[in-house]
Amino acid sequence: MSLLLVSLPGNEAMTKRLAEHMDAEISILECRSFPDGESYLRYRTEVEGKQVVIVCTLDRPNEKLLPLVFAASTARDLGAVRIGLVTPYLAYMRQDRRFQPGEALTSEIFARWISSQFDWLVTVDPHLHRRSALSDIYEIPASKEETAPLFASWIAENVNHPLLIGPDEESEQWVGAIARACGASHLILEKTRKGDRDVVISIPTIADLENTSPVLVDDIISTGHTMIETLRQLQLAGAHKFICMGVHGIFAEGAYEKLLQAGAGRVVTANTITHESNVIDVSKEISEAIGELLV
Ligand code: R5P
Repeated sequence: MSLLLVSLPGNEAMTKRLAEHMDAEISILECRSFPDGESYLRYRTEVEGKQVVIVCTLDRPNEKLLPLVFAASTARDLGAVRIGLVTPYLAYMRQDRRFQPGEALTSEIFARWISSQFDWLVTVDPHLHRRSALSDIYEIPASKEETAPLFASWIAENVNHPLLIGPDEESEQWVGAIARACGASHLILEKTRKGDRDVVISIPTIADLENTSPVLVDDIISTGHTMIETLRQLQLAGAHKFICMGVHGIFAEGAYEKLLQAGAGRVVTANTITHESNVIDVSKEISEAIGELLV
C-alpha cells in the first residue's frame, strides 16, 4: 500500500527529509486562511487507498490544531486507509497534574483529542515527567524517538572536557542519558519555578566547574529563563564559555537572542522545530519509527 506524506505549513523541510529516507510521495495540500481567519484546505493529490502520514510539529499549538484536525478528517473522508501523525515536538505534555484546584488537565484532554483523530503517532523526546509513558494518556500506538545518542555524538565530536549540566531534577533523564553515551560527567541543579518567567536555580559546588566546558542541557527551551538563570549562576561561580543544548527550541519571546546576550557561546537544538540553531537531525530516527508503525 502506498505511503503519502502530508506537510502542514512550516513542516516542509522535515517532510522532505522523511520522504528521502522512505522513498515516499509528498502530497500537495493547499492550506490557507480566509480573510476572516477561518481555514481552507484542499488535497491536490489522490489520497484514497493510501497510508497517510501528516507531519506537523506542535510548538505554538493552538493555531495549528484546527488545520491539523481538518487535514486528518479530510484524509479520512477521502478514503485514506490509515492516518498517522508525525509531531516532532508534542505539545501539552507539561500540565499533567492539577497544581491548583479547578485547573484543566490539558495533557489528558489533548491526548484524548489527538487519539480520536489519528491511528498512531511518532514524536521525539516528549516531556514525560510525572507520566512514565505516552500510553498512560494516548489511546493509539505512540512511538517516542530519543535524541540522546545524537546529542552525545555531537558533544563527543565538538566539545573538549564537557561537563553536562541539567537545570532540574526533570532534566536528569535527558542529561544522564547523554552523559552516559558520551562518557562525560554531569551535574543536576535545583530549580524552583516561581512563575512562567521566574525561576531560581541553585548550584551545588563550584569545584566541579574547573577545567571543564559547561554544556547546559534541557528538553525544552521556551522563554529561556531556565537556561538564562542557570548561565547567570554558573557565571557567578566563575564559569564562562557555555554551550546550551535543547531538544526542542521553542524560543518564545525572543529567547534565542536573550540566551546569546546572556553569554551562551552557542545554542544547539534538534530539528524538531525549525530554527537557525538546528544542528541535530532526527529525521532518520523518525522515518524508522514510521516504518515500524505502518502495517
Ligand atoms: C520544564 O518543564 C522543562 O523541562 C524546561 O525546563 C522548561 O520548559 C523550560 O522553560 P523556560 O525556557 O520557559 O524556562
